[in-house]
Amino acid sequence: MHFLTGDELSPQELEGLLALAQRLKEGRAKGLGRGLLEGRSLVAIFEKPSTRTRVSLQVAAHELGALCLSTSPQELQLGRGESVEDTARVLGRYVHAIVARVFSHRQLEALASASPVPVINALSDLYHPLQMLADLMTVKELKGGVRGKRVAWVGDGNNVCNSLMIGACKLGAEVRVATPVEYRPHPEAVEAARRACEASGGRLRLLQEPEEAARDADVVVTDTFVSMGQEAEAERRLKAFLPRYQVNEALMALARPDAIFMHCLPAKRGYEVSAGVIDGPRSAVLQEAENRLHTTKALLLHLLAPWAARELTPPMP
Ligand code: CP
Ligand code: NVA
Repeated sequence: MHFLTGDELSPQELEGLLALAQRLKEGRAKGLGRGLLEGRSLVAIFEKPSTRTRVSLQVAAHELGALCLSTSPQELQLGRGESVEDTARVLGRYVHAIVARVFSHRQLEALASASPVPVINALSDLYHPLQMLADLMTVKELKGGVRGKRVAWVGDGNNVCNSLMIGACKLGAEVRVATPVEYRPHPEAVEAARRACEASGGRLRLLQEPEEAARDADVVVTDTFVSMGQEAEAERRLKAFLPRYQVNEALMALARPDAIFMHCLPAKRGYEVSAGVIDGPRSAVLQEAENRLHTTKALLLHLLAPWAARELTPPMP
């Protein structure tokens, strides 16, 4: 199985994976999971910079006993024009999974189509499913579950939004996405999220008014207005988003009094979020960032040692 969008997991698998991540988090100090991927190897290819994804992945692999090599296209023959398909076929002879952060999701699909081993999306222009796992884990921890919770996405309907929408809808959340019309989430992701809602009883609404999304929300989420690779569009984008789509104290005041704020990071204070909100008491961003480690471990076990994952996953209610 590849993990490219987040839609690959059934709702039950997603629930199980989050429960496993929680168990790994609680057992980390005692070394829970140590050695379960002994003798396995991963390669991570980063076309763009990364702090959280790169380091959480390498630490996750290390703590489970696997080797994780981190590289870039410039260090591989990929940078000199070797095809992604040949790269996948060859790397698949060495390693047990390929992790890739790429500009074009279609390149990732090409890599996956030729790869004999699982391919994990470490962020593409369209999806960021590893982030979705950590975000849902954080919602579960702080809100007691995802089903029925109102999740408000405010700002750019980007890669992070696409995967979060799919995952949250799978688990039965009410997701409200407020964006300018031209920055709505990708139609392919909207369709997947709507399908997920049919099965889960969740709800997806695409809106334009940040206030309508934030009103009575349990969770307010945003991300940068200028993603990696969109630097040339920065001026146009900032004009479309500011000041209307900033998550600030006034917008948070519309959410439930116990609402949390989430952001995948890196953040630009004063743009998509005010410093008061991201550094304030309702911000869950560091817990969210930490959960990248635990959820990545759970995914690696799910993909590479399913028997161990099953054994460690607490029984579902
Ligand atoms: N949230 C996230 O993916 O961060 P990095 O770009 O630092 O990996
Ligand atoms: N949407 C952002 C997420 C960074 C983790 C980007 O793609 O740059």
